[in-house]
Amino acid sequence: MQDKDEMRALAKRALAHMDAGTTDQCEDVMRLPIETYIDPDYFRKTYDAIFLAKPLGLALSVELPEPGTYLARKMLGKPLLFTRDKEGQVHLFLNVCRHRGAGLCEEGRGKATRFSCPYHAWTYDSTGRLVGIYGKNTFGMDDTESLGLVELPCAERAGIVWGALTPGIELNIDAWLGDFQAELETLELDSWYLYDQRKLPGPGWRVTMDGYLEAYHHDNVHPDTLSPHTMGNLLVHDTYGPHQRLTMARRNLAELKEIPEDEWNAIEHLRLIHSIFPNMSVSAILGGHCLISQILPGDTPDSTVTIQTIMAAKKPETVEEKEATQAFSEMAKFAVGVEDYPIGNSIQECIPAGANDVFLIGRNELAIQHYQKAVEKYSN
Ligand code: FES
Ligand SMILES: [Fe+2]
Repeated sequence: MQDKDEMRALAKRALAHMDAGTTDQCEDVMRLPIETYIDPDYFRKTYDAIFLAKPLGLALSVELPEPGTYLARKMLGKPLLFTRDKEGQVHLFLNVCRHRGAGLCEEGRGKATRFSCPYHAWTYDSTGRLVGIYGKNTFGMDDTESLGLVELPCAERAGIVWGALTPGIELNIDAWLGDFQAELETLELDSWYLYDQRKLPGPGWRVTMDGYLEAYHHDNVHPDTLSPHTMGNLLVHDTYGPHQRLTMARRNLAELKEIPEDEWNAIEHLRLIHSIFPNMSVSAILGGHCLISQILPGDTPDSTVTIQTIMAAKKPETVEEKEATQAFSEMAKFAVGVEDYPIGNSIQECIPAGANDVFLIGRNELAIQHYQKAVEKYSN
């Protein structure tokens, strides 16, 4: 639950911008060298330093809703297996058998406490322990203790399963999130209903992320999807280390002027986007619905896959609730897949033409600036 006073203060900042035709800004226009968008060496350096070494929001707690559930999914080139054991503890493993390396569990979500390899039926439990070797007396190894699944560091906070993709690396999630953790907890993501999930191919990760971090393009690119609900080019910006909260104003913001301040339900007049560094965005676009985007860089600097998850505050039961949730789901798919990503692909395709040495990030695009500074900081 969001703090009412804080939401009121955010609404006041948004109202001031609305009246003045302004937005939060930073000091200067930033110039980003074009190489950072296509150079394979730069890509490899940032990928290894950030995506393979820092904590990432990899899954949602609701994807592992109870003890004895699992989720198998390839992310960032790694076959991953998430489990929730009998005690409710979440684990993250490489989804690879320790005998001769077959993929262990097929992609998907479900209930299982035993994972049996499709090749020779070695079997693991949800804590990763090797609990069965077919024909053990013929195989010839007694000590199988060390042959559990390879575990990756993992922790659960604020309804999100965090992990790092390099075995043995330290995952200090509390330090990484800092005061953003309390902010994320206000979203109560672990109590939402998972309505739908899809994968969308997109442009390179830097172009894609830039698009999630500004409201400058909204009215132009999203005239019939987002623009009817929120105001373009009006951003109230707060940072938490590398993470950010982007507050946009809903079209009904002006109504607050007619209501005494202590009666404001300010959250109904705002749209909050929580941008978790480096690649996860939690966007409460409309009341009761939420879009979570995980942007996964591909093998090269020019492609990504986005996991788009549609959540509803509660399971839609009535016809109206079902229609509203379905409409939200389709809107999110259209706004990103049909409106945003084709522009991103065109940027990516035009880069080799050499028209620009730098990309210009405006003073009003301050969340992109903050993000790109964090990328520099953590990749050096
Ligand atoms: S590769 Fe898995 S049991 Fe042989
Ligand atoms: Fe957009």
